[in-house]
Amino acid sequence: MQITAYAPATVANVACGFDILGFAVEKPGDTVTVNFKKTAGVKITKIIGNKNLPLDAVKNTAGYAVIKLLEYLNEKRGIEMELHKNMPLGSGLGSSAASSVAALLAVNKILGEPLTKEELIPFAMEGERLACGAAHADNVAPALLGGFTLIRSYDPLDVIKIKTPKNLFSAVIHPHVEVSTEDARKILKKQITLKQAITQWGNTAGLIAGLLQEDLGLIARSLQDVVIEPIRSLLIPGFNEVKAAALKAGALGCSISGSGPSIFALANSISKAQYIAKNMENEILKMKIKCDVFVSPINHEGAKIL
Ligand code: HSE
Repeated sequence: MQITAYAPATVANVACGFDILGFAVEKPGDTVTVNFKKTAGVKITKIIGNKNLPLDAVKNTAGYAVIKLLEYLNEKRGIEMELHKNMPLGSGLGSSAASSVAALLAVNKILGEPLTKEELIPFAMEGERLACGAAHADNVAPALLGGFTLIRSYDPLDVIKIKTPKNLFSAVIHPHVEVSTEDARKILKKQITLKQAITQWGNTAGLIAGLLQEDLGLIARSLQDVVIEPIRSLLIPGFNEVKAAALKAGALGCSISGSGPSIFALANSISKAQYIAKNMENEILKMKIKCDVFVSPINHEGAKIL
């Protein structure tokens, strides 16, 4: 019996929701194929698409998440798995989350689905802890559940899937410069002013209300980040130009995807998203930096068994 699962890329933070908001896109994404093996433990047999990731399961985010799951379930049967990486590391697209989520979903399935998707979130978070030192859930939750997800609380974990308007599309560009999430977290200030906090939570609440009320104007007004973007944007060449181009082309909003360097914009139609993405890409190409472009509807389903 062999099970393959797919988990999509995700845009974490969504401007104002640092560590508490994220959404899933249709592509790119990672797939993981799992099988039982004769001996106990977890073995990664192959990683296709990225030579730099460790095969040692304890050091690999997907392997480590599965080890934690098997420990929790007191599962003595061993698992072997093959990873198909379709997205670059350090891209801000939730690459580590996609691998661990796909691996967990596939392993949960082969074990007869002892846990729900929601119950897999803490194990995927362990993968994130290994990847960047912080067990943030704003990539793994939307990768698992799809749509927009809100992490209302980390302790205790309280994850809410937010109903998302049908006419919402995402344009993501990935400039080929690497930004490690760990480094991009280290440079953040530990404290913010009350004024910044008021602006930020107003926008976060506004964004959630906009999604629920399907009010694209409110979504557009709320897609602002006065805390993280001003600092992290310095790591992304041409960020201000890309953002200006996206807004000029009609984006509802534009900000850094996760910890960057990818930049996302939201739009009210797929053709608008394509147009916006083209204009964003042009700004990066002007700087002689290569760039990938991903345009897609919001992925409402999340990770799935293939
Ligand atoms: N919320 C995390 C961060 C997402 O911004 O560091 C990383 O993809």
